[in-house]
Amino acid sequence: MSWKDIYKSKITTAAEAVKHVKSGDRVVFGHACGEPKELVDALVKNHEQYKNVEIVHMVAMGKGEYTKPEMAPHFRHNAIFVGGCTRNAIAEGRGDYTPVFFHEVPKLFKKGLLPIDVAMVQVSKPDDHGYCSLGVSCDYTKAAVETAKWVIAEVNDQMPTLYGETFVHVSELDDIIETSNPIIELNPPKIGDVEKAIGENCASLVEDGSTLQLGIGAIPDAVLLFLKDKKDLGIHSEMFSDGVLDLFEAGVITNNKKALHKGKMIVTFLMGTKRLYDFVDKNPVVEMHPVDYVNDPVVIMKNSKMVSINSCIQVDFMGQVVSDCIGTTQFSGVGGQVDFVRGASMAEDGKSIIAMPATAAKGKVSRITPFIDHGSAVTTSRNDVDYIVTEYGVAELKGKSLQQRARNLINIAHPDFRDYLVEEFEKRFKSKF
Ligand code: COA
Repeated sequence: MSWKDIYKSKITTAAEAVKHVKSGDRVVFGHACGEPKELVDALVKNHEQYKNVEIVHMVAMGKGEYTKPEMAPHFRHNAIFVGGCTRNAIAEGRGDYTPVFFHEVPKLFKKGLLPIDVAMVQVSKPDDHGYCSLGVSCDYTKAAVETAKWVIAEVNDQMPTLYGETFVHVSELDDIIETSNPIIELNPPKIGDVEKAIGENCASLVEDGSTLQLGIGAIPDAVLLFLKDKKDLGIHSEMFSDGVLDLFEAGVITNNKKALHKGKMIVTFLMGTKRLYDFVDKNPVVEMHPVDYVNDPVVIMKNSKMVSINSCIQVDFMGQVVSDCIGTTQFSGVGGQVDFVRGASMAEDGKSIIAMPATAAKGKVSRITPFIDHGSAVTTSRNDVDYIVTEYGVAELKGKSLQQRARNLINIAHPDFRDYLVEEFEKRFKSKF
């Protein structure tokens, strides 16, 4: 049978396709902006037919209706990252969080630690050979397609085609529904004065010829604003957003000095606006690979001058970084933070930066604290951490003793909290600040 015949034989409707989900199944959705909207809607609509279906998902950018209280008998969310639309479900016990480094998620599927019954994904239209690109989300979505017992795909003619190791053949899909929907967008964040000051401090650590990993949000985007005078930067990042395009178009990001994948931007998923999705469509400068490649610290370290920039919730005097909890509340997830902190530190002339505003909760709380909050988990250990940056400066921690670390951190804390922190320092270390 030709691939076109195979393709036609699998076409069905979303309502029919979701009937393949059975009570007790584990279902994985395509990640982040790659979430298959029509399939998820159909699954939720069909909820009465299911009991206790486990939904495994990371950054949830859709409506998250399967987490609503009235859905509790039908769906249970197993989050590998907690986000805006899933946070209440976890806090209220209708779901749970599985701690795992992003680069190890495919291993959970492949080794049967988290076996998948049904994968629901979104792909681009097939090419002339019957291969569909996973579009804006390759990450663990590829491993989900490869290991699930049943694969349902939305073939969306608006999904960009990405190059790299991100293709699935139509013969790997079990059900196909054809759609034409705009891809979920992430609008550029608001960048205030605090973020700008943090961005400027981070940018001071970035040398010409560096390869960058940038997280999501206002701080990474603010860093980009201060890189306009740099030369020959490159990208090897779990994701990037619209901010990178301005630097690419200005000739600052050339990828020409990269030690690995010279001339290419390497990513595992993308979140941005239509401008970004149009830019990456069939663009040989951008390559998408699975997360067990892109985020593997052993791969990341092959880049020279690798700089990772991520954010956090709290840092204690010893340099323990809390990025995914606020006390006992599971606020987000580890994502790729530790993957890149380690990969960057291991790379030749690499640097890992954790950047955060000095305060939280509208200035009421210092993020630099003597101790982490009761119930919080450490995301990046004190042994791994390299630089901490706030709007007040840069604290270098690698190679520093406990007292030196605490001093460097207090020096970049918000001035309103410095007296208190100095007092705590002197109590703890029995030593003058
Ligand atoms: N104590 C109390 N509340 C705190 C707090 C603290 N120490 N730190 C943050 N908060 C509150 C903030 O005040 C804010 O609430 P508000 O909006 O009501 O004021 C909320 O928590 C979110 O904090 P904020 O720092 O604005 O979050 P963010 O959207 O910038 O995300 C992280 C920051 C750390 C949560 C996010 O970067 C993350 O999840 N990182 C881990 C994963 C990662 O690094 N992945 C790799 C790159 S994708």
